[in-house]
Amino acid sequence: MRTQLLPPTNAALQKAARLLKAGQPVAIPTETVYGLAANALNPLAVAKIFLAKGRPQDNPLIVHVSHTDQAMALAHFTREAKLLAELFWPGALTLVLEKKAAVPAAVTAGLPTVALRLPAHPVATELIQMAGFPLAAPSANASGRPSPTKAQHVLADLQGKIPLIIDGGPCDVGLESTVVTLAGKAPVLLRPGVVTLEQLRGILPDITVHPGVLSPFAGPAESPGMKYRHYAPNARMAIAPKGALQEMAAAYDQALQQGEKPCLLCAREHMAYFAPRETFVLDAGNANQLFVLLRELDTRFTYLIAEELPAEGVGLGIMNRLLRAAGFTRLKM
Ligand code: TXA
Ligand code: MG
Repeated sequence: MRTQLLPPTNAALQKAARLLKAGQPVAIPTETVYGLAANALNPLAVAKIFLAKGRPQDNPLIVHVSHTDQAMALAHFTREAKLLAELFWPGALTLVLEKKAAVPAAVTAGLPTVALRLPAHPVATELIQMAGFPLAAPSANASGRPSPTKAQHVLADLQGKIPLIIDGGPCDVGLESTVVTLAGKAPVLLRPGVVTLEQLRGILPDITVHPGVLSPFAGPAESPGMKYRHYAPNARMAIAPKGALQEMAAAYDQALQQGEKPCLLCAREHMAYFAPRETFVLDAGNANQLFVLLRELDTRFTYLIAEELPAEGVGLGIMNRLLRAAGFTRLKM
């Protein structure tokens, strides 16, 4: 299959809508990361997403809508869900709710719940409207690779596997949506993002953070995505405690002596300490560069040593992605 990469002209969007109506997957920009979209109401179309990504069958997909009414037809909205949708949609928040019959089991991996999001990217919402049905869309990376924040990332991962990528430029947010489940007794944060825990607490004072967010989780996964090693670079990776500068430098120097190509990721104020070693800034202010950085470093280095960020605000989302990328490996102290 030849994969076309087209800018979001009217003609390109019409082509995308035609493909989607014919049950084909199309990669589309959203404000968070690129998604690999297909008709959420057509199990055969949804199956093509799993095939193209090499995604495990038991990991459910997020369904994207272009307005709240469309979401209400797919799930039972609690009072809190309505409030969150009003406050944060369109935007980087995904709500897991008890599903309605319209949602096929292929999308939810057989779960009684469905994950819903109204994205803030005009190309995404316009395409949903043109298609006339909601779009199931996981991140448009090959399973196990960092999420794509540029059309070129999608091409690198899925060339020859999908017919079309709509290039909407680099993603503004660059981190996947915050995922909250409201389907249990109390709300639980399943995946942190730029809609922060602190913001959610305003509406959901009893929200808790799922233990799988910052540690390996062996129990029954409320969010099946948790049990997979996501965002995995080919390079080895380890996380160091904040301020463990000596230990990071020593690990770097040792790796270099052993013929590895190490690099360091650290807070801006620690850059100078590590000179002249290969060092890159990690900070909650540029979350949209995280996956760009991981993809790039992965081609240049064999060992990435990252300094922990405070797990607050967007930092919680970044730490979640870093820890998972590292397979929860911590630097030996
Ligand atoms: O920002 C985003 O959310 C992007 C863009 C394309 O919208 N999408 C995305 O999808 O990141 P994906 O498939 O890479 O991540 C979806 C996450 C997975 O961890 C999955 O397990 C979880 O949401 N999820 C989906 N449906 C669920 C459900 N019914 N219950 C619990 N978790 C669910
Ligand atoms: Mg993903």
